Amino acid sequence: MYLGVDYYPEHWDPSMLSEDIEKMKEMGVNMIRIGEFAWHLMEPSEGQYDFSFFDEVINRFKAEGIAVMFGTPTATFPAWLVKKHPDILLEDEQGNPKSFGGRRQYCYNSKNYQTYSLAIVEKLVTHYRDESGIVSWQIDNELGHEGSDMCYCGQCREAFHTYLSINYKSVDELNKRWGTIFWGQTYNAFDEIPVPKPTITVHNPAMMLDWARFRSESLSGFANMHLNLVKKLKGDHQEVTTNLPGGFFGKWFDHNEFSRDLDFVSYDNYPVWGGLTEPVSPAFLSFTLGFVRGIKRENFWIVEQLMGAQGHDIIGYLPRPGQAQLWSYHAFAHGCSNMLFFRFRGMNRGAEQYCLGIIDANNTRSRKFYEVQEVFKEVRKHEEVFQIPIKSDVAVIYDFDNIWSMRIQQQSSQLEFTNELMRLYQPFHEVNVSVDVLKYDHDFSDYKVVLVPVLTLVDEELAARLKAFTNNGGTVIFSFRAGMKNKDNNIPLGENLPYQLKDLLGIEIVEAESLHAGQQVSIISKDGNENGQGQVWRDLIRTTTADALYSYSDRFYKNYAALTVNEYGNGQAYYVGTGADASVLSDLALTVLNDQGISFIESEPGVEVVVRGRHAIVMNHNHEEAIFDGNELQPFETKILEWNKI
Ligand code: GAL
Repeated sequence: MYLGVDYYPEHWDPSMLSEDIEKMKEMGVNMIRIGEFAWHLMEPSEGQYDFSFFDEVINRFKAEGIAVMFGTPTATFPAWLVKKHPDILLEDEQGNPKSFGGRRQYCYNSKNYQTYSLAIVEKLVTHYRDESGIVSWQIDNELGHEGSDMCYCGQCREAFHTYLSINYKSVDELNKRWGTIFWGQTYNAFDEIPVPKPTITVHNPAMMLDWARFRSESLSGFANMHLNLVKKLKGDHQEVTTNLPGGFFGKWFDHNEFSRDLDFVSYDNYPVWGGLTEPVSPAFLSFTLGFVRGIKRENFWIVEQLMGAQGHDIIGYLPRPGQAQLWSYHAFAHGCSNMLFFRFRGMNRGAEQYCLGIIDANNTRSRKFYEVQEVFKEVRKHEEVFQIPIKSDVAVIYDFDNIWSMRIQQQSSQLEFTNELMRLYQPFHEVNVSVDVLKYDHDFSDYKVVLVPVLTLVDEELAARLKAFTNNGGTVIFSFRAGMKNKDNNIPLGENLPYQLKDLLGIEIVEAESLHAGQQVSIISKDGNENGQGQVWRDLIRTTTADALYSYSDRFYKNYAALTVNEYGNGQAYYVGTGADASVLSDLALTVLNDQGISFIESEPGVEVVVRGRHAIVMNHNHEEAIFDGNELQPFETKILEWNKI
């Protein structure tokens, strides 16, 4: 098991190295991650490669038994490169190139950037392929993060035309499927098609979805070029990964498209960042790790784990004593198998002076140092528990086409895919049920429950798989707006909604209403005993074969169902037609868990329990003491208990 730190030796005077190594050993480090922003140091001018600085660093660490993960340095290109080839810069929607000075301001479709970046990677990996000290390569750094997934330059425009001509074969086919007859937008040739820079009103939604797919393909094309090159050149003892950033569904790329071929998936875990006044919720944190675990359906690495407060300009919340430790144990509980903390020492110059690390600029051991030391000790003690694969009975599925379609046409100002995913996820998390987060193309037939948040876009194949899953005894829970559109991002003609899902769900959506901030509707249970609220959206549902569990209770629409269940083969299909409140959904989750015979664990709010094998990892996220199963937990304390109750 590797436990270590992100280290940037080039930031410091070489005379500090010995002392840094000593401190790392004292902390329990057996891996450092280096190199990912140091292109200029390796190629100070075009074609002049020099790896001597890192040769020395790697040797020094190797002598101490500390392994290296080496990052390819292509997230920050040297100034000489952009001076010679300004066309490597990505352009914003106003046509302005980004300036040199930050990071990742390159265009994935720039031929010059592809050539130069592959050249440095080739030299670097060839130089170190036999280096036993390097056990792993990281491609670039947080591909597509911080807005670097979008570019409107001329090279992207040309590549977009090629992408469309490959996918549609003829411009007539494109005109038909995009519906360009509307507003007289018919194209005579692919090269007439714009990139979606600002216009008056809005662009064609079918075109926008293809643009999103094209952005994703641009990024994964670039990532895969690098991945394939490193795989071809590296030593057999070396593995390849890349570090995924957070904010998954706010990106214009599908992480799965370049991550499944990695030797292992890595993630940068920041439960709080920048100006956030408080960390994300435990449920949200668990969902993020479920997403990372879901890419390959296996345990993963964290190569940046937060220890100090972070921010480029505004600094965020300072983790309370023990809280960042809790987040580390939480990550291990949810499938992290190896962990590196960001970063060994905060940098006192340059852009990230306020991205604090384990050691601050005063260069002395403090609370954070001892917290990391303790995490490493405890995790090693329980290594066996943390290596056990995670098997969940519940999965939530997503499809980036669907998410992009909703970002293109939000429909309700309150509709955000991540929130709607969390609405279905949270009630299961509350009773400590493990939920995997999967792209829809995974085989989900071995789960018992599949959650399907706002699947606006649906294709025949996915609908058929969901039907087969339910027919075989599974439970599927859809939320509103399901089956609204086809994969061209168009509303099907002559179909009652939900498209492709009517028989599975036993309902028809008669009309629908978007609910904006502050608007909510009342719903009432079938027996009249329970009242609830709906936000964001409401579908007015007419049941065909389904049973109405809740209906709306307002004067005009009280004859319509709001939440339904349909018996389908050996299973059940639920439809939650509005953004139902937590208590309605908690009841629903408990019903489904009981029906499917899935065991769950009740704990007080903020106390999370993850069962791994015969152990329960119990985590108190609260700022106060808590009790679980007779065990007292201090604020942010984690306990690993023997557990034979499930
Ligand atoms: C990450 C990034 C690191 C560093 C860190 C600061 O997103 O990969 O290079 O910028 O944030 O918190």
